[in-house]
Amino acid sequence: MALALAGLEGATDPRLLVGINTADDAGVFLLEPGLALVQTVDIMTPMVEDPYIFGRIAATNSLSDVYAMGGEPVTVLNIVGFPAAMDKALLREMLRGGQDAVKEAGALVVGGHTFNDKEIKYGLAVTGRVNPDRIVTNARARVGDVLLLTKPLGTGILGQMMMSEGVVDEEFYQAAVATMMRLNRGAKDLMLECNTNAATDVTGYGLLGHVQEVAAASGVGVRIFAERVPVLPRARELAVKFIDPGVLMNESSFAGKVVWRSEVSEGLKNLLWGSETSGGLLLSTPREFIDRLSALVCRYEVTVAVIGEFISGPVGIVEIV
Ligand code: CO
Ligand code: CO
Repeated sequence: MALALAGLEGATDPRLLVGINTADDAGVFLLEPGLALVQTVDIMTPMVEDPYIFGRIAATNSLSDVYAMGGEPVTVLNIVGFPAAMDKALLREMLRGGQDAVKEAGALVVGGHTFNDKEIKYGLAVTGRVNPDRIVTNARARVGDVLLLTKPLGTGILGQMMMSEGVVDEEFYQAAVATMMRLNRGAKDLMLECNTNAATDVTGYGLLGHVQEVAAASGVGVRIFAERVPVLPRARELAVKFIDPGVLMNESSFAGKVVWRSEVSEGLKNLLWGSETSGGLLLSTPREFIDRLSALVCRYEVTVAVIGEFISGPVGIVEIV
């Protein structure tokens, strides 16, 4: 995206609080004092066969970018690519899945657009609201902050697994689908309660790519404790066999910014590089909140792991220990 936008002038307007220049999760526009709009759009192709589950995952993934800014989704538009010859019952199930995610988020579907396409594509354009004083960007991580992650890694394996041989590991599949259908709303509440300085959600660039972007944008370095990073059940084995294209893509984009200071297994390495769908929030949170995390995990029904810390430098470099 950054490459495609290079040379295009970003809008300059004092009401534009977060624009395209900082590669953040969503745009933020100050509507009136005390109230800002958060806007984002995302669309994807199916990674599971069940149309209801896919719809729910795609919508949850789209809603996530609003949560990653500290916002609350309000209205959404469905965006659907669908082959004209395909059974419309599939489309209905997919939209029902999306609608259930939107309902759970307390938001409303107010319209949408469907276009004829060779393959199924689905996602949402989401409008949310945020208190302008409580926006969490990806650019304010502070030295000494801890790095938190609110969902396990490994969802990128799923697409590869479904494509090859139809081999499905049931335990892994159930856990992956459950994590992708889980809204990042509770994670957002925890994030705000902990006065989090910076955040983003883990999607296409994988854990390492997204952490690197936060560190670079914030002008700090970061250290990740590889063995503390949560992963889906059996993901370490499966990640050796089913390698999602994101692994190679992200490694070639970010390898120059990552320093490996300890031995990490091939499976875990692939998980750290791999793309995620509907991944968790990555939070740069003041260290003093560590003691309160277990209470907040119960209150907001989220999972959270302390996976690293922000350090003074080298700036924009991810150190793996
Ligand atoms: Co995002
Ligand atoms: Co997005």
